[in-house]
Amino acid sequence: MKIKAPRGTIDFLPGRIELWQYIQEVSREVFSRYGYAEINTPIFEYTELFLRGIGDTTDVVSKQMYTFTVKDDKSYTLRPEGTASVVRSYLEHGLGAAPQPVKLFYIGPIFRHERPQKGRYRQFHQLGAEAIGSQDPALDAEMIVMSMEILQKLGLGNFLVNINSIGCPVCRPTYRQALRDHISPSLAKVCPTCQERFEKNPLRILDCKIAACKEVADGAPKSIDYLCPECQTHYAQVCEYLDAFKITYRQNDLLVRGLDYYTKTVYEVESLDLGAQSALSGGGRYDGLVAELGGPATPAVGFASGMERILLVLEEQGIKSPHSTAVDVFVISLGDAVRTQALVITQQLRQAGLKVETDYLGRSMKSQMKQADRLGAKYVLILGEDELAKGVVQVRDMQDSAQTEVPLSQVVDRLSQNAQQPAKA
Ligand code: HAM
Repeated sequence: MKIKAPRGTIDFLPGRIELWQYIQEVSREVFSRYGYAEINTPIFEYTELFLRGIGDTTDVVSKQMYTFTVKDDKSYTLRPEGTASVVRSYLEHGLGAAPQPVKLFYIGPIFRHERPQKGRYRQFHQLGAEAIGSQDPALDAEMIVMSMEILQKLGLGNFLVNINSIGCPVCRPTYRQALRDHISPSLAKVCPTCQERFEKNPLRILDCKIAACKEVADGAPKSIDYLCPECQTHYAQVCEYLDAFKITYRQNDLLVRGLDYYTKTVYEVESLDLGAQSALSGGGRYDGLVAELGGPATPAVGFASGMERILLVLEEQGIKSPHSTAVDVFVISLGDAVRTQALVITQQLRQAGLKVETDYLGRSMKSQMKQADRLGAKYVLILGEDELAKGVVQVRDMQDSAQTEVPLSQVVDRLSQNAQQPAKA
């Protein structure tokens, strides 16, 4: 029986990987312009980090973690998100002593044991950013604008920004109670998971997808009506900045997010082109997480986007990587006697900076030409025994089929100049 890739994972093959790389290239460029430096943390951490950081009442922690022990009997978990790891690293390396805020971004794999479907995988990839060490609402707005800019630069436009504020430890308990009071009379109607959420995490009932729960959530008290003065001012400022940046957003009273560390602003960018799994990016403020993980009270805000979801929308919209995969030169060698010289020229051209391919299957002249065509070669270089004896090669311009004889000693210079030119119109 053939072994397949595990369910919910994706092999990115050539033909698709170019667009994947382009998503990373655009993100890196945007992150760097906004002052974020790249951080790379391990893909597994001690399980404790996520239990404390994300919260054990969340689905991510209680149902979706890939947790394992190895010989030392310690419990490890493949990271189910990036924020807790970045905060762990910030504390471990004393980044609190650096000028604040510390602005970091990451790109890498994330693991959640979910039921796979289109746009939902067990290994997926996030590109995300965290700004740690400031409570300035300008950073909340910056996260939203920056995640939108990445999507827009990639060519996407059909999306919606949902935002909300879910308050802080001062005002949330009152809101939580108001919510319980609203749900309590209909508690028997909500799904078993939401019944469990009722005591510990009633906010999550608001974004349950089950019809009965949605009905109960309808008309529920809104978190923005329960904000303390500090949270109110903060949220008003975030909205004012977004208005000033001319960002269209929707106040979504039901947006609560699936991770426990959020305080104040939460947001999600929703694609109007994806089906059920429509969240392209999500994030928000998490002013309590650094302290929760053992550091001093330190405000922070961040977001992450799902790269597979971005890729799906780009593909659906027919958007391609602008980088050509075509080769500059294809070197055709005719016969064993010229093979070594053909390989030397191939090597020299590659070292001169050109993208060069040659034949490795002893193909005929005709099928080498076909292969050159398939690879989109700008130039084909033909080396036979006659040419070698005369110390020349034939250089064919694939656009106009013009063929010229060039001395072997000049071919590298000549082609490296020509191939750098834009293709003839
Ligand atoms: P999250 O909303 O859990 O947030 O994930 C962020 C994004 O990852 C989602 O909007 C979605 O695009 C993508 N995503 C999530 N689960 C899957 C999946 N199973 N398959 C494919 N894509 C998926 C976080 O992870 C937070 N750490 C974001 C954050 C950073 N908040 C503050 N800083």
